[in-house]
Amino acid sequence: MRIGLVGVGRIGAFHARTLSEVDGVDEIVLADADPERARVVAKELDLQAAPDPDDLIGSELDGLVIASPTQTHAALLRAGVAAGIPTFCEKPVAGTLSDTIELARELQDSAVPVHIGFQRRFDTGYRRIREAVRSGELGWLHSIRANTHDQDPPPAGYIQTSGGIFRDCNVHDFDILRFVTGHEVVSAYATGANKGEPFFAEYGDVDTGAAILTLDDDTLVFVSSTRYNGGGHDVRFEAMGDKGAMAVGLDSSFPLTSAEEGVDFPSGPQHWSFMERFLPAYRAELTAFTQVARGEIPSPCTVADALQAFRIAEACELSRHEGRPVRLDEVDDL
Ligand SMILES: NC(=O)c1ccc[n+]([C@@H]2O[C@H](COP(=O)([O-])OP(=O)(O)OC[C@H]3O[C@@H](n4cnc5c(N)ncnc54)[C@H](O)[C@@H]3O)[C@@H](O)[C@H]2O)c1
Repeated sequence: MRIGLVGVGRIGAFHARTLSEVDGVDEIVLADADPERARVVAKELDLQAAPDPDDLIGSELDGLVIASPTQTHAALLRAGVAAGIPTFCEKPVAGTLSDTIELARELQDSAVPVHIGFQRRFDTGYRRIREAVRSGELGWLHSIRANTHDQDPPPAGYIQTSGGIFRDCNVHDFDILRFVTGHEVVSAYATGANKGEPFFAEYGDVDTGAAILTLDDDTLVFVSSTRYNGGGHDVRFEAMGDKGAMAVGLDSSFPLTSAEEGVDFPSGPQHWSFMERFLPAYRAELTAFTQVARGEIPSPCTVADALQAFRIAEACELSRHEGRPVRLDEVDDL
């Protein structure tokens, strides 16, 4: 297979390396708005570089991977689909709700598959808890805790265009919540705070966020996020029911130190970034994309799925700004 990859920054260069180890991928061609960057990364990874994204999309490709900044996704997705190329696009689909809805409408009847990059759907822990929740092993759930706590903040320039902590960071928790439970969020009550670098407030964002969500079966969900977690990269999902409780992320890298005497769990080392925490999931995700591109499986995460996660993030932002619970039906849908 000949795969084109657009945007070789933090995640794009990482995806290029991961893809180069996926069975069946014979050729990877990189492109970036900065052609020199594409050449440097291609040289490092022994791949090819195209002069620019348009040239790449105009060439013969079996699949296209979009890993450029969020606000460029919609145009590149449209170009990939218009050229008939099965396309993988990093989350989120677009920077705004209206653009996401527009794209979901445009693509809903398209025969060209589009796979959106929510890699937690390929993590073995999340798959196990999904099975436990859906089979009734945990009974009926009273509460779920879901968090994404990054160890260190991304650069200020990334925060400026990220869309805010709920759309950029907790959107992963919102997607996986739907994937694990099979239920939809009906309301969100969210807040946030800034105690770190001043650029978060300057861009209207927060460095730490929290939300209480209610699902359509009355399960309560406590969601949190931060860009400053000294204990390590902490991604957890805890489902608690009347028959049992199960957690994703409760392993030897658990980024909390026990205050109890004589407890030496966790043994460590802690995770330090999403790339290292989710490497096997990213590998499985990109392998699945090659199957999508070959027409062997349907998209495991569609634009319509990504829209629903984005709507939850949107409700959280609105709630944070207005200081009130927001019903999901207040947020535009397809
Ligand atoms: N799934 C995940 O876990 C995950 C993790 C990190 C980032 N992301 C997503 O990936 C995307 C990229 O994030 P990043 O942290 O790698 O950003 P980044 O800023 O590090 O890299 C972006 C790259 O895209 C290039 N670029 C800019 N405009 C372009 C254009 N119009 N066409 C082609 N290339 C262009 C830049 O030169 C840069 O090399 C974001 O949408 C982000 O939300 C997803």
